[in-house]
Amino acid sequence: MSHQEPTKQNDDLKYNMRDMVVDSTSVSWVDGINGRLFYRGINIAELAAHATFEETAWLLLTGKLPTKSRLDSFQWGLSNMSHSQEKVIRIIEEFPQYSNPLLVLQTCLASLACIDREDEYFEEENYIEKVMRIISQTPVILSAAYRHYLGVPLLEPRSDLPFIENFIYMLFGKIPTKNQTRCMEIALIIQMDHGFNPSTFTARTVASTLANFYSATSAAVGALSGSLHGGASVLTLEMLEKAKQSGNVSVFVQNLLQSGGKIMGMGHRVYKTVDPRAIIFKDLLTQLTAKEEKTSDLKILNQIEEEARKYFKEKMLPIYVNVDFWSGSVYKKLGIHPVLYSAIFAAARMVGWCSHILELRQNNRVYSPLSNYNGEINIPYIPIEQR
Ligand code: COA
Repeated sequence: MSHQEPTKQNDDLKYNMRDMVVDSTSVSWVDGINGRLFYRGINIAELAAHATFEETAWLLLTGKLPTKSRLDSFQWGLSNMSHSQEKVIRIIEEFPQYSNPLLVLQTCLASLACIDREDEYFEEENYIEKVMRIISQTPVILSAAYRHYLGVPLLEPRSDLPFIENFIYMLFGKIPTKNQTRCMEIALIIQMDHGFNPSTFTARTVASTLANFYSATSAAVGALSGSLHGGASVLTLEMLEKAKQSGNVSVFVQNLLQSGGKIMGMGHRVYKTVDPRAIIFKDLLTQLTAKEEKTSDLKILNQIEEEARKYFKEKMLPIYVNVDFWSGSVYKKLGIHPVLYSAIFAAARMVGWCSHILELRQNNRVYSPLSNYNGEINIPYIPIEQR
């Protein structure tokens, strides 16, 4: 590659990381035109209908659906690695009570890189065990952080429970019903991976330096914590409440759009049609909503979508509902506090991040992009007394 002297004209180039292919992956494919999402080639709609959390995780991590015996040992491993680590719990308890569970997760993952000394001895054949430990520790840390946030006693994980039941049990201290478990499982399955979103790209960038798995996943959580990545589900709920209080949803939507406001949970960088995950979340909300509920979230959100779509259609804008449009209302029905919405997303996405790190480890090249330098050069150094 030839290197040119920087010129101000280069500044006209619109360099950024949007719409740029930076590497190949076979972990997931987002078909933004037709509104489809595939994990290792399998449509997520099929996985949401038939697969378990553990089956889907194994598929993403290794590229293949597990056999019965592999699945059994993977489930057993995840459950048995979910004990709470005393040092991590002590770290959590030292944080101010108001600490956001997602940020606590970021810090605890980074701490585990120091605590988990076995990291030094992990060879390639043990990578899967390493990622299992990270995936199983994530709900343990998040639920401890959540209970610390609420100011209630922390709970020990139960290794006799499968992954999802154990997660819900650790959050609320109650064994969930079959229906609650399956709703949470589907929510996690459909958010496990999504191409090179910013947090996945972050995980890959850090992992590409051969930094350890904890550092890469901790950095990914940091990327997810930004309001432009996680967080729209909470904003959608806030918008929904305002729409309910306005007494006239259609006027509320018109006023919002005409004053240049955004409908939260609509629009997407990649999908130019309905986000397939939104369809599944809407199904979950429909199942969880009693028919007799008069001003249900489902009903109001339907009205918001309908009204907004009329507006976008007129303006010929391909803006449709995304994953965050219905998800907050589903979590609300499951009794989950809004402070946990992004944290649940992280528990799901941890599988995707780990899958990408494993993929990268197979043929690693350090990510080291070029930048467009738009400053001056050859400026003389001025001694301090002359400045
Ligand atoms: N409500 C109203 N207008 C919207 C909109 C929304 N939800 N999403 C996009 N638009 C408008 C933009 O304001 C822009 O209009 P302009 O050209 O007059 O400025 C136009 O549509 C194109 O939008 P743009 O921001 O370029 O699209 P994008 O693909 O870069 O952005 C999002 C995608 C997700 C950032 C954007 O749709 C958004 O902010 N949505 C709401 C937040 C949200 O749901 N985030 C979760 C995403 S998973």
